[in-house]
Amino acid sequence: MSFDKHIVCIGAGYVGGPSMAVFALKCPTYKITVVDINQDRINAWNSNQLPIFEPGLDDVVLQTRGKNLFFDTDIPLAIKEADIIFVSVNTPTKTFGKGKGKAADLQYVEKVARSILENADRDKIVVEKSTLPVRTAEAIKGILYSNNEKNIRFQVVSNPEFLAEGTAVDDMLDPDRVLIGSEQTEEGLKACQEIISIYEHWVPRDKIITTNLWSSELTKLVANAFLAQRVSSINSISALCEKTGANVSEVAYAIGRDRRIGPKFLRASVGFGGSCFKKDILNLVYIAESYGLPEVAQYWESVVAMNAYQEERFVDRMVSFMFNTVAGKRIAVFGFAFKVNTGDTREAPAIHVCKRLLSEHAQVVVTDPKALDNARLDLKDCEGDLTFAEDPYEAARDAHAIAIITGWDEYKKLDYQKIFDSMAKPAFLVDGCQLLDADQLYDLGFNIISTGRDHKMHA
Ligand code: NAD
Ligand code: UDX
Repeated sequence: MSFDKHIVCIGAGYVGGPSMAVFALKCPTYKITVVDINQDRINAWNSNQLPIFEPGLDDVVLQTRGKNLFFDTDIPLAIKEADIIFVSVNTPTKTFGKGKGKAADLQYVEKVARSILENADRDKIVVEKSTLPVRTAEAIKGILYSNNEKNIRFQVVSNPEFLAEGTAVDDMLDPDRVLIGSEQTEEGLKACQEIISIYEHWVPRDKIITTNLWSSELTKLVANAFLAQRVSSINSISALCEKTGANVSEVAYAIGRDRRIGPKFLRASVGFGGSCFKKDILNLVYIAESYGLPEVAQYWESVVAMNAYQEERFVDRMVSFMFNTVAGKRIAVFGFAFKVNTGDTREAPAIHVCKRLLSEHAQVVVTDPKALDNARLDLKDCEGDLTFAEDPYEAARDAHAIAIITGWDEYKKLDYQKIFDSMAKPAFLVDGCQLLDADQLYDLGFNIISTGRDHKMHA
């Protein structure tokens, strides 16, 4: 079959896979090829066991794979064939050298740019889909035009991705907005129009925002910083609620009813996790510092500091109510993924909580419906009494406490009378996300330590 256009995405991860699967579904006359250096990942995308869990994703991939969606490792060939190349490789925080611990590590993006230059033999549009520091397009262009003997024209466009894990397919199918930044030249605007015409297959035109390149690049970092800032704000208030008898869920609901504030992202938690928030805020902090704006940098850095405080506080409060020691006590950790509906554990608060509990010599048993394999990897170097259980009832048996870190729906449906009966006494329920009805569980006999509200202990 001949296709109208060939889109290639370099990077078959949490963004590249789901976003291109939806492109393929909605643009059946386009050929979409997703390439990666990781052969195992590509094999998994070509199998019945996709490398990531996302609600609805299996279905979209089944409908498109082999028809107009392809996963491959032949990156040079894909680059040659492509009309448009989306770059969706990882941009983690640098762990070395200048900017260590804050700046984005751009080596993977740079390698991709060099590979495009080496393999392209006709004009290409290169789209930044990875989250990048503002003005990265300048660097990419610098590389693409560094040795351009073939006289190829490259247009660099920014199209940051706003999907959230756990709702990636729905977010792609029905985005709040699509953002496309381009050079404000004739060629740049033409390239921008090419990207618009992909999304126009299913996204209403008034949801597609176009800007200059730098606004688009910066917007992505700012969007994540604002979302994370809301979580840190409500988490800071959760600490105050615990001291005053106020209930953070009630406070969040009441402030969220103000239409200027709105109800979303006001759920107190053990802290925000995930591969994006911390990394992107630290990147913003680094950029602000680099431009000589220390006050701006400090303001945003405090969002990350509050998150670390929240994780720390969760364990401190638990230990303190459990008679100041958890040594030798079995603690069942319910939920390890960084949020519900994903198996992803990158920067999951549960990692820190488990490590802290192990350092207090607790016996830690972790359960999670989707993230146990990743949990095993994350904790593989930990010393201490650490086990994993598929079944939450098994995890809770003989435990002194259940610590709910990730608010999976299935944990609401468990038989807590049965769980209580199987636990050591006094039995503690430490609810990091106000998932369960504290009053009901207290009546069953649990001591309740719930984030953002007063504790409830039986005498
Ligand atoms: P990921 O780690 O899941 O996937 C990145 C993939 O790129 C990996 O499979 C890796 O093997 C591949 N890769 C690295 N270098 C390569 C190269 N030279 N050639 C080919 N493949 C290469 O990362 P992700 O979560 O998909 O994130 C990708 C980007 O999107 C990041 O910049 C991230 O900040 C951003 N983002 C992520 C999310 C999210 O929810 N995860 C949401 C929006 C934006
Ligand atoms: C985030 C952004 O939402 C998304 O737009 C961007 O593209 C990538 O980063 P993601 O990290 O996948 O997405 O999930 P998100 O729903 O934003 O949650 C991030 C963290 O914040 C999770 O740990 C979640 O549990 C936590 N959170 C979220 C809260 O603690 N309280 C809330 O009210 C909302």
